Amino acid sequence: MQRLFFALWPEPALRRRLFRDTRRLVRRSGGRPVAEADLHVTVVFLGSTDAARRACYEAAAATLRPAPFTLTLDTVGYWPRARALWLGPTRAPEPLLALARSLNEALTACGFAPEPRPFRPHVTLARKVVQWEGAPAPAPIPWPGETLCLVESVSDPAGVCYRVLRRWSLAGG
Ligand code: 2AM
Repeated sequence: MQRLFFALWPEPALRRRLFRDTRRLVRRSGGRPVAEADLHVTVVFLGSTDAARRACYEAAAATLRPAPFTLTLDTVGYWPRARALWLGPTRAPEPLLALARSLNEALTACGFAPEPRPFRPHVTLARKVVQWEGAPAPAPIPWPGETLCLVESVSDPAGVCYRVLRRWSLAGG
């Protein structure tokens, strides 16, 4: 079994900018930083998945015909229950919401049960934040919606890391 999710995975230059532009916020939060290599936006969390199910999920992703979008990260937030500090859009672009909807719908044919809570795209910046008193967001960071990735969450004694298994272009199939 593999622990899987679909995500937007930043290209190296965007990843560096995301990391660099959020260090002050992360330090201020006192939380445990998410490593630069792990910054991403989850689109659909799949959970523990066997090989047959994974093949079905991949076939479902290949049927998508998404519209182009830019996700503008311009809001910093804190979820107390998850103790997570995150960066997200003030307003999520409709084509990204439509992508998440159509992906969830396509996955139901594989027996997937979609998450009932609304999709709130975000990049988790720090975990185990004890207290957050707020801070201004960095300058808006535009994220071009170019690739959807299937990612594995790998746990080892040193912690969790992520491995991109497959990529689909969002720009014209
Ligand atoms: P998070 O960053 O808000 O914690 C890998 O765990 C990715 O899947 C993370 O980005 C995590 O979101 C997301 N995710 C969504 N639902 C999850 C769940 N039920 N359990 C673990 N991770 C989940």
